[in-house]
Amino acid sequence: MPLVSNKVVTIERHIIEQEEGSDGATGDFSALLRDLTLAFKIINREVTQAGLVDALGATGAQNVQGEIVQKLDAFANTVIYRAMDHGGHLCGMASEEDADILPIPDHYKRGKYVLLFDPLDGSSNIDVNVSIGTIFSILRRVTPENTPGTLEDFLQPGYKQIAAGYTIYGPSTMLVYTAGRGVYGFTYDPSVGEFLLSHDRIRIPAHGTIYSVNEGNYHKWDRRMQAYIDWAKSDIPEENKKAYSLRYIGSMVADVHRTLLYGGVFLYPADIKSHRGKLRLLYEANPMSFVVEQAGGRAGDGKGRVLEIIPELLHQRTPLIVGSPKNVEEVERFLNAD
Ligand code: AHG
Ligand code: MN
Ligand code: MN
Repeated sequence: MPLVSNKVVTIERHIIEQEEGSDGATGDFSALLRDLTLAFKIINREVTQAGLVDALGATGAQNVQGEIVQKLDAFANTVIYRAMDHGGHLCGMASEEDADILPIPDHYKRGKYVLLFDPLDGSSNIDVNVSIGTIFSILRRVTPENTPGTLEDFLQPGYKQIAAGYTIYGPSTMLVYTAGRGVYGFTYDPSVGEFLLSHDRIRIPAHGTIYSVNEGNYHKWDRRMQAYIDWAKSDIPEENKKAYSLRYIGSMVADVHRTLLYGGVFLYPADIKSHRGKLRLLYEANPMSFVVEQAGGRAGDGKGRVLEIIPELLHQRTPLIVGSPKNVEEVERFLNAD
């Protein structure tokens, strides 16, 4: 049998090799990502056993967004904080589940990055064994070294992200990340406890035939958004266009992951109840937009590029249209019509 030349590449080796090729690399950043993958492995263990232990169901508490906090949300939130507070790479963290910045305890070294995360995305799907995920975003601090991170370090536009990505806990668990030099996907092999490179240099199709949106909100949308959806699901022989398929899981990580691999568009628009949409700019829209843009896709809020929005609040929301470049342009054409 001929020798197979494909390398087996763990995420740790991949991160180190990527960093070796970049200017001013200190190894600090690799170590940060390595610590994060440990947190993902622990969350994965808990998620995959959730049906077996008493980990399901709500804690009874509400988070800062006023939503019911699921036990797994709280668990994932704590795991990430505890995995990341003592590594010496961060000067602060911010989580979708906490109102304020999470400081690094005084007895640990403070580093030059901040971490923002959505510990468990798709919480309405936890109890029904449907894919959920974790989203992360890393920024370089802008305040002086060795001091506690402040809001200024977190409220930076998305194009400043140093790295971003997500883990999807699904039929298999995958980690997809970008450090600004393409997008890479790793599949978790539980038998060896490693994320192994399975999707090298992911490129999103230029156009797809799937749209993904909570269409139950149709009557709350602006007429331009309604017009786009009417168009998307129509056969238009003169344009040689067939009706697009609708797929909506209700976990952004899973819906965007499918969009990344199959093409199409994922939308969470503003509506008459939520004027700024539902998704959070810093924990959801920015990291997913960075990944999709790095794969050749496009991400907007209906007015401009998501990654150029200057954040004003830690928990700010934004409308989001993300996916294949041609599909996002189709939506924008409708939104900019008279
Ligand atoms: P989270 O579970 O982190 O609160 O996020 C849920 C988000 C996102 O994952 C998903 O795209 C969206 O909420 C679904 O919202 P609807 O139920 O309104 O469709
Ligand atoms: Mn979320
Ligand atoms: Mn969440």
